[in-house]
Amino acid sequence: MRGGPVIAVDGPAAAGKGTLARKLAEALGLPYLDTGLLYRAVGRLALDEGQDPAQPAQQFAERLTPADMQRTDLRTPEVAQAASKVAAQPAVRAALVETQRRFAAERGAVLDGRDIGTAIFPDADVKLFITASPATRTRRRFLQNGGNPDAPDAQARLREMEEALCARDKADASRDSAPMCIADDAYVIETDTLDAQAVLAEALRFTRERLAVT
Ligand code: DC
Repeated sequence: MRGGPVIAVDGPAAAGKGTLARKLAEALGLPYLDTGLLYRAVGRLALDEGQDPAQPAQQFAERLTPADMQRTDLRTPEVAQAASKVAAQPAVRAALVETQRRFAAERGAVLDGRDIGTAIFPDADVKLFITASPATRTRRRFLQNGGNPDAPDAQARLREMEEALCARDKADASRDSAPMCIADDAYVIETDTLDAQAVLAEALRFTRERLAVT
């Protein structure tokens, strides 16, 4: 028996899962875990050791500490790629399952990632899948990183970013171990035409309705 509801927020890269999940947690008074940080921290440790992140990285997952997840250098494109590569390894995923389940044990939680509603908490009380077109997600990430859409190289940079983002989504969705996919009972929110506030309102509406009947 869990001490509170578990809310799974899954979706592809840069869909706004993090922003939504954090605000959802705040609104519902639940702890929040960005599970991508676990894989990013493992990828970072592999890179620090000069190791190709496609090589076995279980040892890094097993020795992960909270401090590794609080590093300020986890949000780079290089670390995102490394995270996706270590995340494809079943032994790495297995080493991180308990941490994620334990996080929600006491009070419930909002967790965002790729496999929360399918593999980590298949019995989550609420499952949301947040998505948008690659072009929308790329543009948001570009602006978030301080990119200037009027700069002469903006189009080239956007193209490059969109390619990297699509390649990562493809890898995350096609791996054998807990691939990113929409759970049968997930509520999908397409955010192309919605701003962050509207996404939160829709997610809260659905979540409150679900929690009221379970
Ligand atoms: O959410 P993010 O971009 O920080 O995640 C980085 C990578 O980690 C992502 O490309 C795939 C992996 N990941 C995963 O496999 N499962 C999760 N629950 C979260 C992230």
